[in-house]
Amino acid sequence: MAIISDDENNEIEIKKNDNVIAEETNYDMSFETNIRPKYFDDYVGQSSLKSTLKISIEAAKKQELPLDHILFYGPPGLGKTTLASVIANEMGSNIKITSAPALERPRDIIGILMSIKQGDFLFIDEIHRLNKVSEEILYPAMEDFYLDMTTGKSQTLKSVRIPVPKFTLIGATTKAGAISGPLRDRFGIIHRLEFYTEEELKLVIERTASILDLKIDEKGAMAIAKRSRGTPRIANRLVKRVRDYAIVKSNGIINEKIANEALDILQIDKFGLDYTDRTILNIIADKYNGGPVGIETLATILGEDSKTVEDVYEPYLVQKGFIQRTPRGRKLTPYAYKCFNLKNIDIQQSLF
Ligand SMILES: Nc1ncnc2c1ncn2[C@@H]1O[C@H](COP(=O)(O)OP(=O)(O)OP(=O)(O)O)[C@@H](O)[C@H]1O
Ligand SMILES: [Mg+2]
Repeated sequence: MAIISDDENNEIEIKKNDNVIAEETNYDMSFETNIRPKYFDDYVGQSSLKSTLKISIEAAKKQELPLDHILFYGPPGLGKTTLASVIANEMGSNIKITSAPALERPRDIIGILMSIKQGDFLFIDEIHRLNKVSEEILYPAMEDFYLDMTTGKSQTLKSVRIPVPKFTLIGATTKAGAISGPLRDRFGIIHRLEFYTEEELKLVIERTASILDLKIDEKGAMAIAKRSRGTPRIANRLVKRVRDYAIVKSNGIINEKIANEALDILQIDKFGLDYTDRTILNIIADKYNGGPVGIETLATILGEDSKTVEDVYEPYLVQKGFIQRTPRGRKLTPYAYKCFNLKNIDIQQSLF
């Protein structure tokens, strides 16, 4: 139960819209929003997830009901935030975008919930980082659309139950396992986003190139797709880097040769691995004879935070079949040995 009073028992005015990081409308014309898909038709891949969502959206529209609460999980850059906006656009609704670290105090989440309108979407990124108090405020809001609060000074404290317009919460996380059971159970739709195939990434790249008015041929797009680690955010980032190189070297025209040259300079190999990925493989091969090695040890040697290694680097290395998670730590697979010709050798040198 949330208490809307401070330490001296003064009532606190809950500001509407406090801590909303972004409120998007269909007409937001900023650059990032320009390349970000707005409707399902532009949102490449994730086909089974899209089919499920399209049915839920149609059913909700027919019944004039809000959508069930939705939880998306999966590695960074796969399109969780984008998909949340797409869903709101498809429903013809507004979306408020915030993130769990911005909802530290009870009044943060209460402020947002009080500013919500019927049919709005609320997107909470990094939802696994929500604290217990904020979570408990969310439970009745998600389930029965009301807020349970106490208000007033110590002698006149009273409970109030404030209705919240029917809304849809979309949560996103890179760590599904870190979400509490009670919170997870309140989502009607839970979906994992998958890494994209090279063909799908090629479509993302061609779409971005056409928005940026770049000249790129099919093989050039495919060359970038192959090195985008299954991730649209990385694909878009690489398009911009390759564009810079092409402007200097080939009048801005991107073909396979130009793309490969630019990506070699960026030290991204044919598997999409960058310097840090290769260093991880190298450490396991070199220092731990192929593993197993604990994630903390690995992160310390790498000089990175263990969460970054676990959330950002490891999923793709596991997905590509280069490393394996075991109860005793991370191990290199025979496939990694084969691809990189590993025998206590320096991977950096074997690739180029
Ligand atoms: N399915 C897609 N089709 C085309 N472009 C996409 C798609 N998914 C994502 N993108 C592009 O990739 C970028 C990154 O996506 P987004 O920010 O939605 O990822 P995310 O999963 O929310 O990442 P994080 O976990 O870091 O918050 C977007 O700006 C968008 O342009
Ligand atoms: Mg996001």
